[in-house]
Amino acid sequence: MEMLDNLKESAAYISGKIGGKKIDIALVLGSGLGDLADQLADPVVIDYHDIPHFPVSTVPGHKGRLVIGNLEGKNILCMQGRFHYYEGWSMEQVVYPVRTFKLMGINNLFLTNAAGCVNKDWKPGDLMIITDHIKLIQDSPNRGANIDELGPRFFDMCSAYDKSLIALAKECAKDKGMTVREGVYMLFTGPSFETPAEVRFARLAGADAVGMSTVPEAIAASHMKMRTVGISCLTNMAAGILDQSLNHEEVLETGERVKHTFQTLVREIIRRW
Ligand code: HPA
Repeated sequence: MEMLDNLKESAAYISGKIGGKKIDIALVLGSGLGDLADQLADPVVIDYHDIPHFPVSTVPGHKGRLVIGNLEGKNILCMQGRFHYYEGWSMEQVVYPVRTFKLMGINNLFLTNAAGCVNKDWKPGDLMIITDHIKLIQDSPNRGANIDELGPRFFDMCSAYDKSLIALAKECAKDKGMTVREGVYMLFTGPSFETPAEVRFARLAGADAVGMSTVPEAIAASHMKMRTVGISCLTNMAAGILDQSLNHEEVLETGERVKHTFQTLVREIIRRW
């Protein structure tokens, strides 16, 4: 199967660049959170456009490279820049990197993102551990022929966000004296932010946050039985909650403002993973 051959080639290329070193956790860094990659010790940096078959990201504020190195005693592979559906990539292309990582032998996945806050009791700058997600758009990274080597045709999503990792994330926040939220992330395709009516709908549906990423990766990871944890940085109140318009600058500004807290939490989770 061509896709599987491509994935294997990508995986072999990356593994070759790091001398076959075993990676403990793949970490996907969301908008404004990419700095964490700069904290890795002895980094090996690989541009996406050098990796055979890899997509190359186009969003301002997103770099397009892997940074591989040590953090808190673990070997970490960071995606500095991810692929979004709104860029025009298919869902299958969006999850291409995560599948590559699995074929490199990586079984742990840490997803992060910037998201709009739907829960009116919370505020911009809050961090949210993702407990579950809602995907209303009827597309899936797993649509089409199943790649049996990666996982089964039909697969469970009840443990897409690993319960023991959710518990660990809560413990880590508590021990660091941080307030952390737990909630449901709802995927919208973007690139427009949601309308106020869509945000009211998301709240009625049970969502606490809305965003344009993460869900495809979590689905592909669940298919491949990777242990996954997700954390959202709630960068803004979602559309219509406050009497103001939304913009990408606010997303980046809040990301910048809370990045130290965010990084502390992510590092602590990695240390105790
Ligand atoms: N909506 C969707 N995606 C987002 C938002 C939002 O309000 N903020 C950051 N990413």
